[in-house]
Amino acid sequence: MTRLLIDCDPGHDDAVALLFAARHLDLVGITTVHGNSSLENTTRNALALAELAGLDVPIARGCVGPLVGNATYAPQIHGKSGLDGATLPVPRRQTVEQHAVDFIISQAERHRGELVVAVIGPQTNLALALRREPRLAGWLREITVMGGSTTTGNVTPAAEFNIYCDPEAAAAVFTSGVPIRMVGLNVTRRTGFSSADVQRLRASGRRVATVLADLLDFYLARQRDAFGLDLAPMHDVCAVIPYAFPELIRYGETAVQIEVSGALTRGMTVCDLRALRPDTRLPARLAGAPNARVALEVDSRPLIDRVIETILTYP
Ligand code: RIB
Ligand code: CA
Repeated sequence: MTRLLIDCDPGHDDAVALLFAARHLDLVGITTVHGNSSLENTTRNALALAELAGLDVPIARGCVGPLVGNATYAPQIHGKSGLDGATLPVPRRQTVEQHAVDFIISQAERHRGELVVAVIGPQTNLALALRREPRLAGWLREITVMGGSTTTGNVTPAAEFNIYCDPEAAAAVFTSGVPIRMVGLNVTRRTGFSSADVQRLRASGRRVATVLADLLDFYLARQRDAFGLDLAPMHDVCAVIPYAFPELIRYGETAVQIEVSGALTRGMTVCDLRALRPDTRLPARLAGAPNARVALEVDSRPLIDRVIETILTYP
């Protein structure tokens, strides 16, 4: 079973990723970061979700803002609390003493060669951990990223939210030399809960599924308002699902660079797909060295069905 640490900014889709990972993988820890909402909110939300689902997993608080500039939040999507739409239990548990940066380092050292880190929010914690402990890159098995896009962004025409929030951090992660698996909006936009899917959760009458249904009703309504979408995109679970159901997403090896200075393109993941086109013979000297497996195709319906089945296993 894959040993996983999730760095997240809960966030409605982060919540689904946590519940999925806890059931299918060896979830050794959760670290929180600024992103969908303030660090205070994302940390409280992570604790409340663990309380709701009965997850006995250590949670460590991380960075309050990006390496450069100020934090960007998404209240228009996730609400003021970062997880609007349902009343979550007041968490009895606390975060661990360790800062998320040190927690990532200590877990990687403890599980040397085995640990996969899923970064499903801005990558500030992981970037600082890689800087603080140069051996970390050699200890990690893989980094699985929800972030970026091989096509268009969501915050700007070019940039996806997680990368946009901290491009310098993403650049540090993508140049770390650790094997990277990246799923971007080009795939995640196609994987979402419809209102019928949310209704399947509610109809179960199960406590956790009912709370998730309330949360996803809110999230779906915001997606309609903000993007005219009729789906609640499950961005984050796409970063962890391949470790349980590897056949559902297909990838291409390619060079990914992070734009940090473009006036119009800051936060863009520049994915060199030229080498993947069947009709071109790109001389190796022109294609950048591949540093990531980038998601290109997904079986959306089976993916969402596996996620619903998993949520329905909770009490
Ligand atoms: O762009 C989508 C990503 O930004 C997801 O991780 C979502 O939770 C937000 O963090
Ligand atoms: Ca997220």
